[in-house]
Amino acid sequence: MPNTETKITREKFIDALNGDLSREYQAIIGCVNYSQVLKGAAYMNIAGELAVHAKEELDHALAVANHVDYLGGMPSVTSLPVKTSEKAEEMLKFDLENEKETIAHYRRRVKQAEELNEYAIAESLRTILVDEQDHLIALATALGIDAPDPGIAN
Ligand SMILES: [Fe+2]
Ligand SMILES: [Fe+2]
Repeated sequence: MPNTETKITREKFIDALNGDLSREYQAIIGCVNYSQVLKGAAYMNIAGELAVHAKEELDHALAVANHVDYLGGMPSVTSLPVKTSEKAEEMLKFDLENEKETIAHYRRRVKQAEELNEYAIAESLRTILVDEQDHLIALATALGIDAPDPGIAN
């Protein structure tokens, strides 16, 4: 039987958190760009929300970097690539996809933190998940769709 879930170790957990940190940097950059580039009366509400998201993503990055350092790792300094577009709907779809990925990863990370008995980290990641879910809902609402289920990453 194929087993996609390999047992978590502290080393693997640090690497995974650093992946999350790079995704948070991507979110900061994306939100800074999209919040200013979005044009059109229909999108001004979400543009304002994205400026708020940018600051929340920075808080997430600081929290995740704190966990990596606590675990004895070096927090990452690289962002995942950020897609840009001149088209409002495309921008929002890029951001929605990123939020989905982010949620799927944090869902897995909470389970891994608990497996390692790192309950305080699990708690911190849960509060980040609450924000990410709000981000997902705001983007889906702006796109006029139901919030998709991100599932859970391997
Ligand atoms: Fe975030
Ligand atoms: Fe987010």
